[in-house]
Amino acid sequence: MTSPTIESVLHEERLFNPPAAFSQQAHIKSLEEYEQLYAHAKADPQKFWADLATKELHWFEKWHTVLEWQPPFAKWFLGGKLNISYNCLDRHLSTWRKNKAALIWEGEPGDSRTLTYAQLHREVCQFANVLKQLGVQKGDVVGIYMPMIPEAAIAMLACARIGAAHTVVFGGFSAEALRDRLNDGQAKLVVTADGGWRKDAIVPLKEQVDKALADGAVPTVQNVLVVQRTQQPIAMAAGRDHWWHDCRTSVAADCPAEPMDSEDLLFILYTSGSTGKPKGVVHTTGGYNLYTHMTTKWVFDVQDTDVYWCTADVGWITGHSYIVYGPLSNGATVLMYEGAPRASKPGCFWEVIEKYGVTIFYTAPTAIRAFIKMGDHLPKAHDLSSLRLLGTVGEPINPEAWMWYYRVIGGERCPIVDTWWQTETGGIMITPLPGAIATKPGSATRPFPGILADVVDLEGNPVQTNEGGYLVIKHPWPSMLRTVYGDPDRFRRSYWEHIPPVNGRYFYFTGDGARRDEDGYYWVMGRVDDVISVSGHRLGTMEIESALVSHPAVAEAAVVGRPDELKGEEVVAFVTLEETASPSEALVKELKQHVVNEIGAIARPGEIHFSDALPKTRSGKIMRRLLRSLAAGQEVSGDTSTLEDRSVLDKLREDT
Ligand code: WT7
Repeated sequence: MTSPTIESVLHEERLFNPPAAFSQQAHIKSLEEYEQLYAHAKADPQKFWADLATKELHWFEKWHTVLEWQPPFAKWFLGGKLNISYNCLDRHLSTWRKNKAALIWEGEPGDSRTLTYAQLHREVCQFANVLKQLGVQKGDVVGIYMPMIPEAAIAMLACARIGAAHTVVFGGFSAEALRDRLNDGQAKLVVTADGGWRKDAIVPLKEQVDKALADGAVPTVQNVLVVQRTQQPIAMAAGRDHWWHDCRTSVAADCPAEPMDSEDLLFILYTSGSTGKPKGVVHTTGGYNLYTHMTTKWVFDVQDTDVYWCTADVGWITGHSYIVYGPLSNGATVLMYEGAPRASKPGCFWEVIEKYGVTIFYTAPTAIRAFIKMGDHLPKAHDLSSLRLLGTVGEPINPEAWMWYYRVIGGERCPIVDTWWQTETGGIMITPLPGAIATKPGSATRPFPGILADVVDLEGNPVQTNEGGYLVIKHPWPSMLRTVYGDPDRFRRSYWEHIPPVNGRYFYFTGDGARRDEDGYYWVMGRVDDVISVSGHRLGTMEIESALVSHPAVAEAAVVGRPDELKGEEVVAFVTLEETASPSEALVKELKQHVVNEIGAIARPGEIHFSDALPKTRSGKIMRRLLRSLAAGQEVSGDTSTLEDRSVLDKLREDT
């Protein structure tokens, strides 16, 4: 772990007050209101969450206990029964929202579809009935490997409806990565599509599923349900593979939502950690439903007139919480877009905002940096005046990128919510409430009501104002991950043991460094572990190293992140070769492709350096800190006395 020392404390003096017109109509209207909520939640968290759960969600049966906290294991709303698909769909059908647009979808080739709440409900019911027909039962796990089409959300809601857990695997992941996740989750069925549009090409999703399942590599999978999207010919294995459009003709249009226990598994989502293979982050039903509902309502200030657009893919937690569950639970109109900006369609986001009158827009700093580079003329060619709120997530946003977003996209009229959270937290944790909290460019500002955040040292002592430390959470919250799927020890080790409990109080370790300023605003500085962020996607350096080492030419590999203007970080690999192999440009190419095959294109190294040896400590640990400096082209500073062989470093310095 690296210590979160602040290399240069950013002096950010700019402060943007919530516009009065925004505050007046917002759910949370003032700083006083936020502070009251915060104080109330801090004083009596159980009452705070229980009151909201009663008011904001539908329960088939009320809970008997709000919170059971046996550190590090939390349970919320014990004994309560609900169904998140009921909360996202059925309960809106008895209101005027029945015929309101739930999903507006814009396809990459320019096709589009709108589903009202009533129509979405019917689609989900049919999908759920097909899953049942194919033998999926309550408690089973279903893999979802889909493009950004309505059926991705429909499949998730259908699983939730019948009490099957989903594990969505991002469509950009390789067949190998898919196979590992399906095996870890013991998936019984896979939902996929013939293909999906990514930029200007078709991603052959079904072909990847075939590869992942070849030779009985995932013995638990019995059926594959295929949605037709791109229409190229694909192989269909008799008995195993089924077309969604065929199956749906023989099922009923209604499927009652299964009353689920509040703590029943809702989904598993894999994310990278500092060691080993990706972790299956476990989220359960009641707490997750409540927390994503409340954060959507208060952070995005969702109103019935809004057209809400989050540009994430449903394969990430952002898509789960803020495309599907949070917004639909609030009865919002959600825009879903299959495409992505690129050279041939650089202005497509602005085109979509204008076309549909998007009012709330939520994207990532890496996208914003790319837009800045593409030039102001693109957004300026479109009418963006429908926008009233902007959001960002995924990595720290540079103040200058924030300012550009504010000026050029928001027309200096829209508040920006810089939302800090993680796959593990399930929902947004540190964020402005846009009608209440003044923003500072680059700061995620203050914790959401009910979230006890702090910045501490490794003994759990709070650090001084403006001093760097580890960002921790000191009280369980409803959408907290419950465990790592099948590995409670890893859950303990990864999140609860870096910092020991102090006076019986446990600290959830986020893996991020942060400081808190004199106004109580949080400035997240990035990961303190061996996790890097490439275009906002979280990658464990260890996973990429394992992928490299699985190539026959590679003896040893060390991977670090190098700061990159557009992507945030770029993957840089240092590799030592087996005796039988020798460095060449062709081998660099081959190794890059090998990583793509093993993990996916997001993990492709930008640079690979060959070396006779890697810098190690006397105890054999690779000194990544030195490699990080080398990769960044910086002087290697700090202590190098623990190096086993100094000449290794000198040699590397010459070569890089
Ligand atoms: C990591 C979590 C949560 C959805 C997207 C990523 C970084 C996330 C911010 C932000 C600074 C941020 C952190 C965090 N991060 N949002 N607003 N400011 N850093 O989810 O893949 O689980 O990654 O992303 O480092 O730990 P994830």
